[in-house]
Amino acid sequence: MTSLIPGNKNISSGSYISMIPILRVAITAFVLVLISCQGDAGQSASRTDSAGVEKQVDQLLSQMTLAEKIGQMTQVDRRYLKSDSDITNYFLGSVLSGGGSSPAVNAPSSWVEMVDEFQSYALRTRLRIPLLYGIDAVHGNNNVKGAVIFPQNIGMGCTRDSALVEKAARVTAEEVAGTGINWTFAPCIAVARNIRWGRTYESFGETPGLQVTMAGAEVKGFQGENLSDQSLVLACAKHFVGDGGTAEGKDQGNTVCDEATLREIHLPGYLEAIRDGVGSIMVSYSSWNGLKMSANKYLLTDVLKNEMGFKGFLVSDWAALDQLQGDYSNQIETAVNAGIDMVMVPDNYKRFISTLTALVDDGKVPVSRIDDAVRRILRVKFLKGLFEHPYSDSSLTGKVGSQAHRQVARQCVRESLVLLRNENKVLPLGKNLKRIVVAGKNADDLGNQCGGWTISWQGSSGDITTGTTILQGIKETVSPETDVVYSSDGSGAAGADAGIVVVGETPYAEGAGDRSDLSLSKEDMTTIENVKRAGIPVVVVLVSGRPMIVNEALADCDAFVAAWLPGTEGEGVADVLFGDYKPTGKLSHSWPRDMKQIPINYGDPNYDPLFPYGFGLTY
Ligand code: BGC
Ligand code: BGC
Repeated sequence: MTSLIPGNKNISSGSYISMIPILRVAITAFVLVLISCQGDAGQSASRTDSAGVEKQVDQLLSQMTLAEKIGQMTQVDRRYLKSDSDITNYFLGSVLSGGGSSPAVNAPSSWVEMVDEFQSYALRTRLRIPLLYGIDAVHGNNNVKGAVIFPQNIGMGCTRDSALVEKAARVTAEEVAGTGINWTFAPCIAVARNIRWGRTYESFGETPGLQVTMAGAEVKGFQGENLSDQSLVLACAKHFVGDGGTAEGKDQGNTVCDEATLREIHLPGYLEAIRDGVGSIMVSYSSWNGLKMSANKYLLTDVLKNEMGFKGFLVSDWAALDQLQGDYSNQIETAVNAGIDMVMVPDNYKRFISTLTALVDDGKVPVSRIDDAVRRILRVKFLKGLFEHPYSDSSLTGKVGSQAHRQVARQCVRESLVLLRNENKVLPLGKNLKRIVVAGKNADDLGNQCGGWTISWQGSSGDITTGTTILQGIKETVSPETDVVYSSDGSGAAGADAGIVVVGETPYAEGAGDRSDLSLSKEDMTTIENVKRAGIPVVVVLVSGRPMIVNEALADCDAFVAAWLPGTEGEGVADVLFGDYKPTGKLSHSWPRDMKQIPINYGDPNYDPLFPYGFGLTY
C-alpha cells in the first residue's frame, strides 16, 4: 500500500452528503488502518512501500541543515530566478511556470531543455534533492504552444463522464511529462456557486456531487492508481477550500457560511482526491468567515491533515502570504504555523528564505513544523520516484499535440455540448445544404474558444496555437459541394440555407473575469439579428465560460447550443451540429433568467431557473 492513500476506497462517492456527520469517525478509522499497515510493512524499502519511504525520508531529513530544509519549502517562478545557480545556492525545492511563463522559444523541446537544465542545478546540491517543476496544466498542458487544449472544466462537468475526465487527464499528463514537467496545479475542484465569479469555468459545476465524480478521476488520470514512480505527474487539488463560495462571486473573496455548510458543499471533492492519493493541495486565496485560508490552522492542519488524513504537502497560492495581516515576517509565521508546507513566493526568494530562517532562529516557527513540512515534500518526491528519475522522459515529447491526443479532446468537446433549444428539429443540420452562413466573433477564433489559461495567463484572441476553429471544423464536416461563407457580423446571409452564429465571451482569467453583467454584447445581438433577418434557420452557438443572460437570443433563434470553452478541437462542435454525434451534455449549472436570480443553485428554495441543472436536449 502507498502512504498517501488513507485506507479503504470502497465507499460509494454518491453518499458523501449524507455521510458528513459520520465523516470524522470514518476518517479516523482510515488513519488507524493506515498506521497499522505501516507497522507491519517493515522489510521492503521499495518506493511504493510506506514504511520504506518513511525511512528514506527520515534518513535524508536527519542530514539536512536548516538552510536546506527552508530551501525545500521555497517555490520560485522561473521569471524571478536571478540565476540558475541560485537553485543550487538556495537549495530550492521547486520552480514553477506561472501562466504564460514560457521559455523564449515556446516549443516542447525548449521546455524539456529548460526544465532539465533547472534540474541539473538542483542535483548539484550536497544532498542532490531533485526539483519539482510546477505548471498550471488545467485544460491540457495549456502554456505550451502546440499542446492539445481540452474544454475547460465547466464543459467537462457537462459530460458527466468521469472515465473521459480521467482519459483527458492522462493525455494531459503525457503532454506535461513530455515537456519535462513533473507537477500540475490541477484538478481545480472548486464548487462554483455564483457564476459572476471569473473562475467559474475552472470548476466542474455548481454541485459537490460533480466535484466528487470528477476529482478522483482527474487525479488518477494524472498520477495513475496511486502516486508512485509510475506516475507521469504529481497532481494538486485546488483551492482549499471554499474558493467557489465567495460572496457575490468575488475572486479571492470571503465565503460566509457555517462549518456544516462548508463541509457539505466544498469539502467532498477533497475527500475523493485524497482517497485517490493526490500528492499536493493548493491553499485558496479566499477567506472563510473573514479569515484568509492561508492563515486558517484549524482547516489546514486540524481538518485537512489530521482529520482527513492528508499526507501530501500544502502549497500556498501565488504570493498569497502577502495578503495576510502584519508585516512580511508576521505573514510567513502565520502561514507556516497554520500548516502551509511550500510557499509559492514566487518572486523575492532571498527575502522569504532569510525571513523564515530568522523566524525559526527566534523560536517563532518551531523546528518541528519545518521538519513536518519538509518531510511531506520529501515523501512526495520519493513516492514519485524523482530521486531515480529526475530528468524528462524524451519518449513522450513527440506525443505533445499528437493526432491521437486531439481525438480525445474532440470527444470531450462533443460530449460537453449542451443543446438548450431545437425548434422544428432544425438540428442536426444536413451536410449537403447548398450554402451555410457562419457568423459571429467566436466562429473563427482559436483563442476565444480556448479562453483564459491558454498560452498566456489571461488567454487572448486570435491564432494563439495549433488547432481547429469552429468554422474550420464546419468546413471539414460538410460535403465538399457545400458553400460555407463566413460573415463576421452576419450580414449578407440572405439566400443561405442555414445560419450558424457563434457568439459569447472573450478570454479572461481569475478576478479579471468577475462580472456584474452577463448579458450578450450589443455586437453579438446585432450579429444574431442580422442572420435572423435573412429569414433562414438560425443556430446560435454560445462560447462562454459560464451561462449568460440569453433570453433575447433564444427568442431569435431556432436552435441554441452551449459550447462552453471547447479548446483547440473545433470539429467536436461540428460533430454535434451535423449529427455525427447526438448531444448528450447536461448542464453543470443552473441557467438563470436574469442577473437578479444569481446566485442560483440546484436545491435552492423557490428554484425557478430558465434551464435547470442537469438540463440538456438531444436529437
Ligand atoms: C492561481 C492558481 C495558480 C497559480 C500559479 C494563482 O494566481 O490562483 O490557480 O495555480 O496562480 O499560476
Ligand atoms: C502569473 C499567473 C498568476 C498571476 C497571479 C501572473 O503573472 O503568470 O500564473 O496566477 O500572476 O496574479
